[in-house]
Amino acid sequence: MPATVIVGLQWGDEGKGKTTDFLAEQVSTVVRYQGGDNAGHTIVIGDDTFKLHLVPSGVLYPHIAPVIGPGVVVNPATLIRELDGLIARGINVSKVRVSHAAHLILPYHPAIDRAREARLAGAKVGTTQRGIGPAYEDRAARLGLRVEDLLDPASAATRLARVLPEKRALLAALGDTNPGEAVDEVAIAALIAAWGERLRPHIADATDLVQRALDAGEHILLEGAQGTLLDLDHGSYPFVTSSNPIAGGATTGGGVAPLQIDEVMGVMKAYATRVGSGPFTTELTDATGERIATEGNEVGTTTGRRRRVGWNDAVPLRYAVRLNGVSSIMLNKLDILSGLPEVLLCVAYEIDGKRVDRWPASGAELARATPIYERFEGWSEPISGARRMNDLPGAAQRYVAALEEAAGAPIVLLSVGPERSQTIERALRRRRAGGR
Ligand code: GDP
Ligand code: IMO
Ligand code: MG
Repeated sequence: MPATVIVGLQWGDEGKGKTTDFLAEQVSTVVRYQGGDNAGHTIVIGDDTFKLHLVPSGVLYPHIAPVIGPGVVVNPATLIRELDGLIARGINVSKVRVSHAAHLILPYHPAIDRAREARLAGAKVGTTQRGIGPAYEDRAARLGLRVEDLLDPASAATRLARVLPEKRALLAALGDTNPGEAVDEVAIAALIAAWGERLRPHIADATDLVQRALDAGEHILLEGAQGTLLDLDHGSYPFVTSSNPIAGGATTGGGVAPLQIDEVMGVMKAYATRVGSGPFTTELTDATGERIATEGNEVGTTTGRRRRVGWNDAVPLRYAVRLNGVSSIMLNKLDILSGLPEVLLCVAYEIDGKRVDRWPASGAELARATPIYERFEGWSEPISGARRMNDLPGAAQRYVAALEEAAGAPIVLLSVGPERSQTIERALRRRRAGGR
C-alpha cells in the first residue's frame, strides 16, 4: 500500500511538477490534495513543455490515474481548458478524476480576491487572484458549492440563490460596485449546467478510488501544490495560501490515512524564490539575484510575475524537514548556480543581536531577522549533462553535501535541467517517513 507525498520545502515552485513526473513512472495513481489553479507545475519532456494548474502531473503517462482530491478547490473553466489543451496535444485524459467533494471556484471568488487585494494596497498578500482564499472561506463557512453540484443544476441554483446576495454585498463593501456576470445568477447557473455536462465522466468518489488503489497494493503519489512556507497554519501568516500544502494536508485533502503514507519526498531548489509579498530573509536584490532570476527563468508559471530570488536558507529548511517528516529530498535547479564565484547558504539568523537557529514563530520576529551566511566556493562548469554525482565538479558536490547536512535528510534525487532525463539518481530512496 505504499503512498508517497511530494511536498514543497520552500515558497512553492521548487520543481514539484518535475519531481512528480519523474517518480510517476513507477506508480498507478497521482493525487493532487490541496490548492487549485494558483499552482503551476511544469514538466519538460524532450522539446515539449507542459504547464499544469489543476490536472495532476502524472497525466502524461498513459498508465496513471490522475486524481483531483477533495481538498482541492476547482475552477471548472480552468480544468476544462486544461483538459482540452492536453487532448489537443495528443494526451489521453480519460482517466482524470475529480472528487465530487472538491469545492468549486465560481466567478465571484476571483472577483472577491481581486477586490480585497486592491483594498489592501501596500499590505496585499500578492495572491494569484484565482479566488483560492474566497473559495476556501466558503468551504469553512459551509456556503460553498461542490463538484457534485455540477451534476444537480436544480440544487446548485438553490444554493446559489442563497449565497449571491452575500457576495454582492461583500463586493460592494470592498469597492467593486459593478461586478457584472461575477454575481449574475442566470449566467452562473448556465455555466454550472455546461460544466456539469462536460465534466460528468470525470466526476467520482476520489477517496474510494484512492483507498481501493491502496488496498490493491498499488503505489500512489500525493502531489502537493505551493510549499511549506506558504502553509496556512505553518507558513509566514498572513503571507500564505489558504490551504495546507504540508504533508499532513495530504491526509485530509487526498483521503489517505496518516499510516498509509510511508515516504515523504521534500522538493527544494538549490536557491530560494518567492512570488508575492512576505518576509524573505535571504532575498537578493543585487546583480547576483538578477543573474540567478534570469538564468533560472524565474517567472511565475501561473501569473507571469517575476519571482523574488535569494540564497538558500537552512533555517526554514530544517523546520520544513521536521514538520513534513521528510524522508528524502529532490534538489532541483543546481545547474542555475554554475558560473557564480561563490554560493552562500544561510545557516542561522541574527535577531536583536542574538544568534537564532530555529524558524521564528512570530512574523514580527522574522521580519527583524538578518542572515548569517556560510560561504562556498562556486564552480564555473555547466553541469546540465551530469548524470552521476561524480560528473559534478567538486565544489558543486561540496555544496550539495552542505545542503544535505543542513536539511538533516538525504538528497536522493538531483536535477540539473528541466528535462525529465536531466536527473541524477543518487541512492535508493528511504521510504519510511521521518526515518533518519
Ligand atoms: P512547481 O510549481 O514546484 O512544479 O515548479 P514550477 O514548474 O512552477 O517551476 C519550476 C521551473 O523550473 C520550471 O520551469 C521547470 O521546468 C524548471 N526546472 C525544474 N527543475 C529544473 C532544473 O533542475 N534545472 C532547470 N534549469 N530548470 C528546472
Ligand atoms: P506552485 O504549486 C508559488 C503564492 C502567491 C501568494 C500566496 C497566496 O506552482 O508551487 P493564493 O493565490 O494562493 O491565495 O496566493 O501564495 N502562491 C504560490 N507561489 N507557487 C505556487 O504554486 C503558488 N500558489 C500560490 O504568490 O504569495
Ligand atoms: Mg509553480
